[in-house]
Amino acid sequence: MEKQIIVIFGGSGDLAKRKLMPALYNLYKSKSFKGDVSILGVGRTAFTDKSYRDHITSDWDDKDENFTKRIFYLSIDPANNIDYKLLKERLELFGPSGYLFYLATPPSLYETIPLNLREVGLNREIIDKETGITYSRRIIIEKPFGYDLSSALKMNATLNRVFDERQIFRIDHYLGKETVQNILALRFANSIFEPIWNRHYIDRVEITAVENMGIGSRGGFYDGVGALRDMAQNHLIQLLALVAMEPPVTFNHQEFREEIVKVYKSLKPLEKDEVESRAVRGQYIESEKKGVKTNGYRQESGVPSDSYTETFLAMKINISNWRWEGVPFYLRTGKQMPTKVTEIVVHFKSTPHRLFSCREDCPEQNQLIIRIQPNEGMVLKLDMKIPGSGFSVKQFPMEFTYDKLAGYSTDDAYSRLIEDCLNGDVTLFTRNDAVEWSWKYFDAILEHWRENPKTPLYGYPAGSWGPLESEQIIKGNKWTNPCKNLTNTDIYCEL
Ligand code: BG6
Repeated sequence: MEKQIIVIFGGSGDLAKRKLMPALYNLYKSKSFKGDVSILGVGRTAFTDKSYRDHITSDWDDKDENFTKRIFYLSIDPANNIDYKLLKERLELFGPSGYLFYLATPPSLYETIPLNLREVGLNREIIDKETGITYSRRIIIEKPFGYDLSSALKMNATLNRVFDERQIFRIDHYLGKETVQNILALRFANSIFEPIWNRHYIDRVEITAVENMGIGSRGGFYDGVGALRDMAQNHLIQLLALVAMEPPVTFNHQEFREEIVKVYKSLKPLEKDEVESRAVRGQYIESEKKGVKTNGYRQESGVPSDSYTETFLAMKINISNWRWEGVPFYLRTGKQMPTKVTEIVVHFKSTPHRLFSCREDCPEQNQLIIRIQPNEGMVLKLDMKIPGSGFSVKQFPMEFTYDKLAGYSTDDAYSRLIEDCLNGDVTLFTRNDAVEWSWKYFDAILEHWRENPKTPLYGYPAGSWGPLESEQIIKGNKWTNPCKNLTNTDIYCEL
């Protein structure tokens, strides 16, 4: 295995400290580094190797010098092409190596950095003629991949001028989550679901990813983004694609990513006059949560006091294809909600005829709940007979959680994805055309909001399930709020 250097642009930033370095440390500890791996943080902040190591590990309880001595730092301005000579020289000191460039920077640098790398030839793979070793050049880019369709097209065009698509890793950390990958196993490693996984047996699907925090110190970033771009256009639609996709012929990156793109191509475009009944946006307002006052979004630092950025979004999406025609997919995401949970609820159709009487809780529909986080697992809700005389039924859960399996740990998403990238496996990363097709769908909503700035933006108090108007989206049914579904609610339910 070639020697590899991971170059983290934005090395002095929050993402590097909070997520990337701990993920790399996990990989190191689990002996997942194949060959010799070093890490070079790059950024404008002045650090020495030593002070950078101290900064990165300042709040780690568990440190290993054999890992920290692999960390180095170079202070340059990533926006300045002149500085890339310094980067090249520093990298050459490591000897012949593969380079993995991780862009943990603001998106405004996503085109500048690749172009600057190209100027000094750092994008070119090198093959050692004697040994036959290829020294790879790979780049990881964090979402958001563009701001809308046209910026995504431009960004992809730039990236594809500098790197081949196989060298580009657009990271959506949701795809690194164990239960997200388990959707594939559930659907394609078991034969019992496939016959019923379609419009004949499934009534609707809900996908909820909510958080019980505000935007904290990220106001400056978040205000130009909002819930649609931050969560729906990438994480949520990715989950929808995994639920809705056709089985790939083989599980390799071509087939798998092809099927994801097919789902995006089948999203039924929204007509202009449909947008408001299909997408409800909200913003959290100043409120009191458990006796404590919480800021409204407009009071958060870095947010203008008249901001129209949505912190909540509920949507109804239809898929126009043979399998899903007529089955609505409901998406919901928000900040300052009652709890932090991500889950998918598949509602099956009711029995054609009701034979038994019902006591207590017995909805007529079976539900399969796929819990992405926390407490990753699945719950199948079945109607069962209540023991004793008579014949009444009630809904009970059948549960599977990873927690209860001894010997399996669910690694963090970043470790998994960085490991895949070091191995050159692009399967769980977003392909250029997937980004573009997804934007094609969501652009209609953004355009409508832009052209009609008075489109309602409903306020909601912290700790609520968002504006009441979001109920309009799911008319005839009700949103499934996680507490109701859980058998082990104590783990996190705050309601
Ligand atoms: C990020 C968003 O991509 O995902 C954040 O930018 C959000 O706003 C986060 O909080 C949620 O990720 P997770 O893994 O905590 O659900």
